[in-house]
Amino acid sequence: MRIISTERSQVLAARISEKMGVPLAETKITRFPDGEIYLRCDGLDDETLIVSSITDNDILVQTLLAIDAADQSRNTLVIPYLGYARQDRRFVPGEPVSARAVARALSSGIERVFVVEIHDPCVLDYFDVPADNITIAPAIGGYIGDLRLENPLILAPDEGAIEFASDVAAIGGWDCDFLQKTRLSGEEVRIAPKAIDAAGREVVIVDDIISTGGTLTTAACMLRERGAASIHAACAHGVFASGAYTRLRAAGISSIVSSDTYENASSFISAANAIKTAITKYVHH
Ligand code: R5P
Repeated sequence: MRIISTERSQVLAARISEKMGVPLAETKITRFPDGEIYLRCDGLDDETLIVSSITDNDILVQTLLAIDAADQSRNTLVIPYLGYARQDRRFVPGEPVSARAVARALSSGIERVFVVEIHDPCVLDYFDVPADNITIAPAIGGYIGDLRLENPLILAPDEGAIEFASDVAAIGGWDCDFLQKTRLSGEEVRIAPKAIDAAGREVVIVDDIISTGGTLTTAACMLRERGAASIHAACAHGVFASGAYTRLRAAGISSIVSSDTYENASSFISAANAIKTAITKYVHH
């Protein structure tokens, strides 16, 4: 068995390789003068684990090429972060269900798919092959425990994040609450005023994705008004679009942590262990 990674999942792929004792395939990715991508994997075996976070369109193509390069082997695809997952239904006529389009494209040539902290489990059904979610709530809970906060309050910024936040809170036996969010635009959200006892509390906002940071900024503002002692943020996928990380720190969020499903300098939490545990019974190496 060999592990192939695309360009934005190299660190996580190396960690999975170490944990599983499975070698990485040497993969070279270059671009033709017209921008098309060329990919070559050396030393492939009869079983391949492809590790690829779909962070952008380029990586989507790299993933398709990697799957095709491994067409002689039995393939498992691990998608640590699945871009396009948030357009998981048709909101107005004429739109695609983008999550479905991407899932279908990625199903060809694959035996099984694993996605880490999928935005909504309904997306798993869009794959044409068996697809499972992998949670990293224990790893995030462990990290929050290491922060040694005083009786922290774990807060989901919307109802969609409640399950994830509750699973994180359960790790330390911490209190958990949630806010009610309405999205106004790509960057703006409205959070309905809610009686939440944050006064004097160290609050950790837990969400699956931080993208533009609009959700966190609005939640943090509300928490400050309610007298929170400190505000922290933890997420699975730290996208930090358009300079969101620095805007959030400037907005008074004391610490922000994400995982290596979307590799960046705040990826202090690794999904490698959870991925290894989830896939071990399905791979045959
Ligand atoms: C949405 O339902 C997700 O769980 C996140 O709350 C959202 O994607 C965060 O996006 P942003 O950082 O742009 O507000």
